[in-house]
Amino acid sequence: MMTSLLLGQTLSFTGDPFLRPWEECVSHREFGGVLIEDGYITAIGDGTALRAANPAARVMDYGRDLILPGFVDAHMHYPQTGIIASWGKRLIDWLNTYTFPEEMRFADPAYARALADRTLDLALAHGTTTLCSFCTIHEGSADAFFEAAKARGMRVAAGRTCMDRDTAPEGLRDTARSAYDESARLIARWHGKGRASYAITPRFSPTSTEEQLEALGALWAENPTCLMQTHLSEQTDEIEWVRGLYPQARDYLDTYEAHGLLGPRGVYGHVIHLEPRERDRLAEVGAAAVHCPTSNTFIGSGLFDLMGLKRRGVTVGLATDTGGGSSFSMLRTMAATYEIAQIRGQAVHPVQLLWLATEGSARALHLGGVVGSLQAGAEADLVVLDLASTPVIAQRQERARDLWEAVFPTIMMGDDRAIRASWVAGRPVTRT
Ligand code: GUN
Ligand code: ZN
Repeated sequence: MMTSLLLGQTLSFTGDPFLRPWEECVSHREFGGVLIEDGYITAIGDGTALRAANPAARVMDYGRDLILPGFVDAHMHYPQTGIIASWGKRLIDWLNTYTFPEEMRFADPAYARALADRTLDLALAHGTTTLCSFCTIHEGSADAFFEAAKARGMRVAAGRTCMDRDTAPEGLRDTARSAYDESARLIARWHGKGRASYAITPRFSPTSTEEQLEALGALWAENPTCLMQTHLSEQTDEIEWVRGLYPQARDYLDTYEAHGLLGPRGVYGHVIHLEPRERDRLAEVGAAAVHCPTSNTFIGSGLFDLMGLKRRGVTVGLATDTGGGSSFSMLRTMAATYEIAQIRGQAVHPVQLLWLATEGSARALHLGGVVGSLQAGAEADLVVLDLASTPVIAQRQERARDLWEAVFPTIMMGDDRAIRASWVAGRPVTRT
């Protein structure tokens, strides 16, 4: 058995800091320890005591660095890594101009594998140990992503993206039948195998026919432990488009609900411009809304109502949405969450931001207690943060009067230089 002991400052959560006072939801140890055996966390506690009790453990002493659960990115598009930061368009033009031409290239399995490898290495360099990714309509694009994750031992979720309406370009369209059949084959190959979960993935209502949504709803009913991921109410033009394509639907969410695509394992990206009925249904069903703040500002979508949705009982995860999002960093994503909430007149505490990026996103993916938390029994995916990674951050955190003032400069200004180490399944990731 391989036993490792990580020493440093540790932070673990004991509750949802949006639902209770944050002080009651967090446990911080200045000289903490995380004991890892065979890929699982088996103890967390006082560093000195754990060291004395485990003399044979291999010790990694991170000093004043902060040990956290690895970040969980609950919505992203690995096929868009190559077109991140593409200029000047809003959603529909951005998809047509940059995204769809790039996604066509994933018909080539070698290209798909190269981009999957690149994406996962970038994620790990930024402290992200779990991702939930869209793939492309090509079955091989999902195989490439799952294989790349398996090679790294990473826990991931992903799905082959389905679109069969003529609103999607020639060359990037499937059918209701092929979407069902290929998704079913991928579920058989990957879902629940090792650390992989399958997410049934209709891109969004504007690019699927009702026949396809119905087929994918049936597939989900046959495979209820799968996630189902899609997009919901990202831009007002998109909502108008949906209204035109689905005149009988009560609202955008209803285009999914009417076809069996609303459920507790539903993971809906963006979710900005909601009708009260949509918000209440998401809460009632226990489905997750995923906040994609750098994308929502970059593509000009709008201001997610984080506090409002949490107050109403909606499960919320956090995500980069790369390449619509402009950063792989969940630190930058937390910073953008803070900034957007400030515009809405709400101050989000660092504990709330860190919770969203770890346990909150894990819960959105139904992986609560599995990843995203520093607790005995969880899988040992960790990130170690250097809280003084650049001169400007270092000089600010020197003045900190408590941990939260020490962490906040890294949340606001940190990037991959703040990642001292990422650990996946109990092993440190060596940089490639
Ligand atoms: N809506 C449908 N597809 C996409 C996508 O690839 N990115 C974003 N941001 N929104 C979408
Ligand atoms: Zn997306």
